[in-house]
Amino acid sequence: MVGELAPAIDLWSASCVRGRVNVLREISLKILPGELVFITGVSGAGKSTLLGLIHGDLELASGEAYVGGHVLHERRQLDLPRLRREVGIVYQDYRLLPRLTALENVVFAVRACELRLDPLEALRRARAHLDTVGLAGRCSHYPSELSGGEQQRVAIARTLATRPRVLLADEPTGNLDQANSSHVTDLLAQIARAGTAVLIATHDPKLVLDGAGQHVQLEKGTLERPAVAARTG
Ligand SMILES: Nc1ncnc2c1ncn2[C@@H]1O[C@H](COP(=O)(O)OP(=O)(O)OP(=O)(O)O)[C@@H](O)[C@H]1O
Ligand SMILES: [Mg+2]
Repeated sequence: MVGELAPAIDLWSASCVRGRVNVLREISLKILPGELVFITGVSGAGKSTLLGLIHGDLELASGEAYVGGHVLHERRQLDLPRLRREVGIVYQDYRLLPRLTALENVVFAVRACELRLDPLEALRRARAHLDTVGLAGRCSHYPSELSGGEQQRVAIARTLATRPRVLLADEPTGNLDQANSSHVTDLLAQIARAGTAVLIATHDPKLVLDGAGQHVQLEKGTLERPAVAARTG
């Protein structure tokens, strides 16, 4: 083990069943700290399911999953609140808290992740991240007062502000224009360079071409690695 980086995400033959469908079948995937990975696949291929599994929202039917040192397949021993403080997710449908403003949404998440953080520092960090995604002028707006793309950017700022060890982003540019989309991809690549394992689910082939990361594809519940995949781990 000396000199070797332990994977931040390590799935071994992981399967997941939703309702009557075997959505993921014996998926194996390793992602190292600092790696940026794109996952593509047609609608219904199971991209969100895979992210939900890694975030502990969904349970494995079989196989093994280790995420940031947590053992996901041993559900009874799993410390879910701690897992979720360390693994950030940008949901496909954003899931902002409707009764909190954009700024309050971000502050709330930061303080939930770092219980002892000075409230003023949480506020400063939240403002800085909303500024980074171009929303300094929308801090006091409620989600219902924001466009889809603005809500998406609040969701991204919220997750980035919690400084996760593992970052999962589900179609994070799905509602963004070209300029915002490139900016968000750059931000996610920066986070990866700083040492976070980043897994992005996307429909957008351009995002994959622009991005410098590994590319895996979900097809009929299994993972394929397109020819250009460049794994170094
Ligand atoms: N809430 C649910 N309850 C039961 N089955 C579900 C649920 N959500 C998804 N599924 C099943 O899981 C499959 C994969 O869904 P998933 O949301 O992971 O796909 P996806 O690749 O993220 O699609 P999209 O690109 O449309 O977001 C679906 O085809 C469906 O059979
Ligand atoms: Mg999805």
